[in-house]
Amino acid sequence: MFNVHEVPTISYKLLDTNPSWWRRRTTLERTLTLISIVALIAVAALVIALVSVVLSDKHHEVLELPGTAEALGAPPATHIISKHPDIETNEVTSKKDDICLTSECVHTASNVLEALDTSVEPCDDFYNFACGSFLKNTNIPDEKTQVNTFSVIGDKLQIQLKQLITEEPSETVAKPFKLANKLYKACMNKTLIEQKGTQPIVEIAEKLGGWPVIKGDAWDENSWTWQDSVKNFRKYGFSMDYILDFSVGIDLKNSTRRVIDLDQAAIGVSREYLVKGLEDKIVRAYYDYMVDMAVLFGAERTRAVNELRESLQFEIDLANISLPNEKRRNSSALYNPMTIADIQTKYPYVSWLNYINALLPEGLDVDENEIVIVSVPTFFEALGDLIKRTPKRAIANYVMWRIHGFSAFFLTEELRKRQLQYSTVLSGRQEQEPRWKECVDITSGSLPIAVGALYVRKHFQEDDKSKALEMVNGIREEFEKILKEVSWMDEKTREAALNKLHRMTTHIGYPDEIMKDSKLEEYYKDLDIDPDNYLPSILKMSVFGTNYSFNKLRKPFNKTDWLNHAKPAVVNAYYSSIENSIQFPAGILQEKFFSADRPKYMNYGAIGYVIGHEITHGFDDQGRQFDSDGNLVDWWQENTKKAYLEKARCIIEQYGNYTEVLTGLKLNGINTQGENIADNGGIKESYLAYKKWAEKNGPEPRLPGLPYSPQQMFWISAAQTWCSVYRAETLKMRITTGVHSPAEFRVLGPISNMRDFSKDFNCPEGTRMNPIKKCEVW
Ligand SMILES: *[C@@H]1O[C@H](CO)[C@@H](O)[C@H](O)[C@H]1NC(C)=O
Ligand SMILES: *[C@@H]1O[C@H](CO)[C@@H](O)[C@H](O)[C@H]1NC(C)=O
Ligand SMILES: *[C@@H]1O[C@H](CO)[C@@H](O)[C@H](O)[C@H]1NC(C)=O
Ligand SMILES: *[C@@H]1O[C@H](CO)[C@@H](O)[C@H](O)[C@H]1NC(C)=O
Ligand SMILES: *[C@@H]1O[C@H](CO)[C@@H](O)[C@H](O)[C@H]1NC(C)=O
Ligand SMILES: *[C@@H]1O[C@H](CO)[C@@H](O)[C@H](O)[C@H]1NC(C)=O
Ligand SMILES: *[C@@H]1O[C@H](CO)[C@@H](O)[C@H](O)[C@H]1NC(C)=O
Ligand SMILES: [Zn+2]
Repeated sequence: MFNVHEVPTISYKLLDTNPSWWRRRTTLERTLTLISIVALIAVAALVIALVSVVLSDKHHEVLELPGTAEALGAPPATHIISKHPDIETNEVTSKKDDICLTSECVHTASNVLEALDTSVEPCDDFYNFACGSFLKNTNIPDEKTQVNTFSVIGDKLQIQLKQLITEEPSETVAKPFKLANKLYKACMNKTLIEQKGTQPIVEIAEKLGGWPVIKGDAWDENSWTWQDSVKNFRKYGFSMDYILDFSVGIDLKNSTRRVIDLDQAAIGVSREYLVKGLEDKIVRAYYDYMVDMAVLFGAERTRAVNELRESLQFEIDLANISLPNEKRRNSSALYNPMTIADIQTKYPYVSWLNYINALLPEGLDVDENEIVIVSVPTFFEALGDLIKRTPKRAIANYVMWRIHGFSAFFLTEELRKRQLQYSTVLSGRQEQEPRWKECVDITSGSLPIAVGALYVRKHFQEDDKSKALEMVNGIREEFEKILKEVSWMDEKTREAALNKLHRMTTHIGYPDEIMKDSKLEEYYKDLDIDPDNYLPSILKMSVFGTNYSFNKLRKPFNKTDWLNHAKPAVVNAYYSSIENSIQFPAGILQEKFFSADRPKYMNYGAIGYVIGHEITHGFDDQGRQFDSDGNLVDWWQENTKKAYLEKARCIIEQYGNYTEVLTGLKLNGINTQGENIADNGGIKESYLAYKKWAEKNGPEPRLPGLPYSPQQMFWISAAQTWCSVYRAETLKMRITTGVHSPAEFRVLGPISNMRDFSKDFNCPEGTRMNPIKKCEVW
């Protein structure tokens, strides 16, 4: 994961509330869930995490969370003059007076200059040196939570997608493209949505016995059980995971096979906040939001205040019995296979066989010998008592709140305004996105394969694929050298590591199948969308996605299935530990990340860093738990493992000691270690690969107005890829709940560990960018 898009939860950028849960959902589900949770907050986020629809891969790493996109318009017009760096560098590869003056070079140079702040000493603060002017001159529009490279490209992508989606499809156009057009129309028809009001959800809620806080004394407690409510939610297309999380995933120890997975609940606010209770500002805002929404849906205020206090307590208790993210990084600890008969004995408060068979699609039945994976046994041990001591009415109020909160996003302006107010507390965003942008995001997030097909057919240059692949191969070779050379590995572990690297598969751009209408039609054949019914269409897509994913239970998991790599219209990149694969969708192979027509040092600093990052994920604290086949197998010799954990500890402590200035918060070294290890390895591999490339191909010219050597430009390009401005609220959310360090530290962390950087900029030992103590895993 690189950057942008990873967040699931509420905010956008950064946070994943419950990351592993999130990662395991199907794309569609994720999309929907995100929406609900995030609601207005980050519609764009939805789009982002499109990891894999079919895949249900909880072990999929994203580069970044999705942020929002935002068009910067014209870049700041300052700083065209750059003073020469007073650093003499070893110019191995650059011919001093050779300057590239092609239009692409001029354009690139101008972008670099616009962000650079040469008044900052590079050895003191390289992030501010590379990004200072960008930070000073970038204004975050009211409807956004951050502005960065990802969001800028995302904005451009939105415009391209809008044109493709809104083009009136002719009769003969394949069905998937018509679906996209219909969904967009359903989303855009605000008049019709207002006319229908709350009726679309009220109708369903009635069938489920109603929302107690609204029904008052007329609510029939006796005919309601939480287990029935889950079954109904499944049927109607809502999440099944509000009390406990149920999914069909991949068997981590035999990743050709699928298996049922039970996990802790998918709560509405990150655990980190919820466990603080009502003292916390965000929990308070969540509670107020819940009450106000209930009132808007027809509840009497006093009753809402009282009853929802109890249901919030239930949610807080669910959070409290859940494992914190720090404890969810060890996949073996989360792998607890049990038969249904076992869990029936251990957790008798659910009729498991009945529960599971009701959620599985027709024609799929399990018996009590079926093995399920229980991720967090302690959660299930505590859940029975929690359910027993919580009044039924509080539980009903809670789950009905969740489906109303989810649905509101697809209903009236009045409801959505209140959602926005809540999302402002979470993310700092002040306004809704323009409707068309939201509708593009919903469409491409919900129908990523159809929209992705439209996108690459129109906008992707075929030969970019081979150029990107060349970079992947070069960077991979450098990682191979590192693996061969590190002193702390024993030969057996080294052998296994090399094998894993060799077997890592690469997916670039998009799969060829996406070019064939027949393939797309087959995938979407059971789905219909009614442009006159927005929420019902959303729910239908959700049922479709759930059916699709659950129906795979008995089918082998095909690691190269094109459907798992068919969401090209996203600005992100991935590593999947169960596939042992890296993926670079078409959406990231452009603009600041990659261009075939500019000096290679720019590409190696930008997309090269990303490529190295994804490769290194295969060997971060989580990725290293999986072998070359994507199975959860410990292939590490004891001493080497110890040495690794020691090295990882250095990274944990380095980042754990960084304090972010705007929020005053310290980073979470444990939760961010995987990303940080990937960042450190990634930038190094890419740097070495560029050096190698330059040795082979000769020196590259400079860019006009930029008196820096190619190596220096590599670092500047790498740093500028991360130039980001965040709203304080968003940053806080990212630091508290996210797995990615804030952008600044994705530059400062790796750079201050790299001797080559200090050499290239002549940074004296002891300066901030060249500390004596350095961390290095790879
Ligand atoms: C909204 O839906 C109504 C009812 O189907 C339709 O008459 C109207 O043309 C739609 N408006 C737009 C802008 O599509
Ligand atoms: C993995 O699962 C497949 C299909 O169920 C089975 O044939 C195979 O023996 C399993 N492999 C291992 C190592 O358990
Ligand atoms: C969480 O559970 C523990 C142990 O049951 C309890 O002591 C603590 O007060 C709970 N915290 C919250 C926020 O409910
Ligand atoms: C992961 O969990 C397993 C099983 O609980 C344990 O044996 C192992 O030591 C843990 N690994 C790490 C690195 O903590
Ligand atoms: C989902 O599966 C159920 C049967 O299990 C079926 O009745 C329903 O039509 C399917 N829905 C969609 C949208 O595929
Ligand atoms: C796996 O998927 C790939 C790409 O979609 C396909 O070519 C291949 O035939 C599939 N393999 C199996 C065993 O189905
Ligand atoms: C900060 O660094 C010190 C020494 O390197 C270490 O002991 C401490 O655990 C680190 N703090 C965090 C929060 O990681
Ligand atoms: Zn990552």
